[in-house]
Amino acid sequence: MSQQRKLFVTTALPYANGKFHIGHIMEYIQADIWVRFQRMQGHMVHFVGADDAHGAPIMIAAEKAGKTPQAFVAEIAAGRQQYLDGFHIRFDNWHSTESPENTGLAQGIYQRLKANGLIATRTIEQFYDPVKGMFLPDRYIKGECPSCHAKDQYGDACEVCSSVYSPTDLISPYSTLTGATPELRSSEHFFFKLSDDKVVDFLKAWTQDGKLQPEMAKKASEWFEAGMADWDISRDAPYFGIEIPDTPGKYFYVWLDAPIGYLASLKNHFDKGQARNHWHPPSRTDAGFDDFMADPTVEQVHFIGKDIVYFHTLFWPAMLKFSGRKTPNQINVHGFITVSGEKMSKSRGTGIDPLKYLSLGMNPEWLRYYIAAKLNGKVEDVDFNPDDFVTRVNADLIGKYVNIASRAVKFVPDGKLVKSDFARLGPAQRVDSIKQLYETREYSKALREIMAFADEVNLRFDGAAPWKLVKEGKGTEAAAVCSECLELFKVLTACLKPVLPELAVHAEAFLNCAPLDWSNAALPLGEGHQVHEYKHLMHRVDVKQLDALFEPPADMPPPQPSPGGGGSEKPGGEDLAPTISIDDFVKMDLRIAKIVNCETVEGSTKLLRLTLDVGEGRMRNVFAGIASAYRPEELVGKLTVMVANLAPRKMKFGISEGMVLAASHCDQKANPGIYILNPWPGAQPGMRVR
Ligand code: 2FM
Ligand code: ZN
Repeated sequence: MSQQRKLFVTTALPYANGKFHIGHIMEYIQADIWVRFQRMQGHMVHFVGADDAHGAPIMIAAEKAGKTPQAFVAEIAAGRQQYLDGFHIRFDNWHSTESPENTGLAQGIYQRLKANGLIATRTIEQFYDPVKGMFLPDRYIKGECPSCHAKDQYGDACEVCSSVYSPTDLISPYSTLTGATPELRSSEHFFFKLSDDKVVDFLKAWTQDGKLQPEMAKKASEWFEAGMADWDISRDAPYFGIEIPDTPGKYFYVWLDAPIGYLASLKNHFDKGQARNHWHPPSRTDAGFDDFMADPTVEQVHFIGKDIVYFHTLFWPAMLKFSGRKTPNQINVHGFITVSGEKMSKSRGTGIDPLKYLSLGMNPEWLRYYIAAKLNGKVEDVDFNPDDFVTRVNADLIGKYVNIASRAVKFVPDGKLVKSDFARLGPAQRVDSIKQLYETREYSKALREIMAFADEVNLRFDGAAPWKLVKEGKGTEAAAVCSECLELFKVLTACLKPVLPELAVHAEAFLNCAPLDWSNAALPLGEGHQVHEYKHLMHRVDVKQLDALFEPPADMPPPQPSPGGGGSEKPGGEDLAPTISIDDFVKMDLRIAKIVNCETVEGSTKLLRLTLDVGEGRMRNVFAGIASAYRPEELVGKLTVMVANLAPRKMKFGISEGMVLAASHCDQKANPGIYILNPWPGAQPGMRVR
């Protein structure tokens, strides 16, 4: 083996305010494959992750949930392992930025930056919510667009006319947290002086010396051309974050301490005494975190998405460099994942719910394989296409790879291999080339080469036609060809092992061989080697599972009455209305309403005037055509259901601010009667009906 590498590998730290979505899982799979590939070479790897716990959105979400932010993020953290285990993503440690390690590291790094003269203080003016008692991040301020006058636009840009401005330009701004009009207040903030010549000079060199993918290096030089601005790294209380030393009431902005969380998780890993590599005995891993990070041969590698490149290629290396620390050796940026071409929302994810995938009994290695088959070393988006998924997994994994073992073993009497022409298809050269592709994260090419190799093995098998050879009494010849195929199946298994670790373990058990790595991948099993009885290694994907994975399309037609048979009745005397999507349905806001008053309407025999309480702290006036069915006193004090977001309508007798729901047959002459809806006991005014 060449020199043992020492690698410190991370994936981006997910915000601790939501579950993992398929975008997270894709990144973890990409990194996990690379880590497993490195471990198979005998390299030492520490692969860590953590929750990104801080920031205003998490603080506010916790408050809404009635929890402390600590309890809130701890609950999210408790849900992580099932995803990681489920998809065979093997981090050595999972930690949190809300931790003593991170506090110590962040404060230490800040103090070094300050001692180096790279922290400036400046008074800035910012919107303040006087009701909430806090400075408002831009995303919590809305108002009228100063250009096109569209209402309810965010503080940074207008979604209607796309003009860009700052929150103070908004007309009639309001806080989305309380509705209050924000006030401009000034406050002292700390800035990391990224515009300092020595920082700019360092970053210009650092971003251009091969640590970034070419397209990212190009992006970085564009940023330099636009000019480096100093970075505001402080936030005022109340804030969920790490306190700035000696500055009560000031906290680090979440993006300052987030990447430091990489170091915190590694430190926590070392401090727990688990940093010894369980794959290969370590050479010098007994050293602590500080020694490890001070070792110049350690390589620090970050896997991230394309949306957070600025933080990782400018802020992060500069923070590390000017606090006297090791800077990253590689920033590996990937694109987004789309599903059937549809972009994913960062907060809501896509149509694929990773836990649903697992709960349907879908094999996690299908997804690992499919994602790997689409990933390359560039910053390109990956599309999950359900039909393509089925085809790839079934055709490649089952049709090409697994079948080799099941077919070949039949012609090797008692599973005892005979002398074979193992080297004829050049396994050693192929392995070398495939390794090179894994190293550079060209997984899609690696898998293409592996499958092309599997094709040749299958051709060899089919060409030799061992079933014919046996009939012709040439059983030994058949056994030789099939021994060769089984030995090549072993090579293929090693090549797929970073992607399919569990399948590889089962294949190794079948092959009765030592755990496969790159040192033994291209060696023959040898004459006389005994393989075990073949047991099925992997099932095919069932299209039905994918149908179940994706919710039934919202525009599915309603069930049609079967011709001739029953079911041709018109329910309630009328045909069903055209199908709507769930999106259409949720546009309608139905609420439980309390009928606090009800009276007849002078001049109308049909209408009753209802005074409704939907928990808004005000009453609604609604006219309902139910006078023929109810006397006012019957209704007072009862609960019902109303459409609460119907635009107010001017009626002859006044304004109606909504509509109550009632059932009736279409033909009132034949089937008279109107029945107002009444919820089960327990429902409270204001509750949404969905
Ligand atoms: O964009 C995000 O989801 C951030 N939580 C990523 C942080 S990565 C690192 F800096 F911690
Ligand atoms: Zn506008």
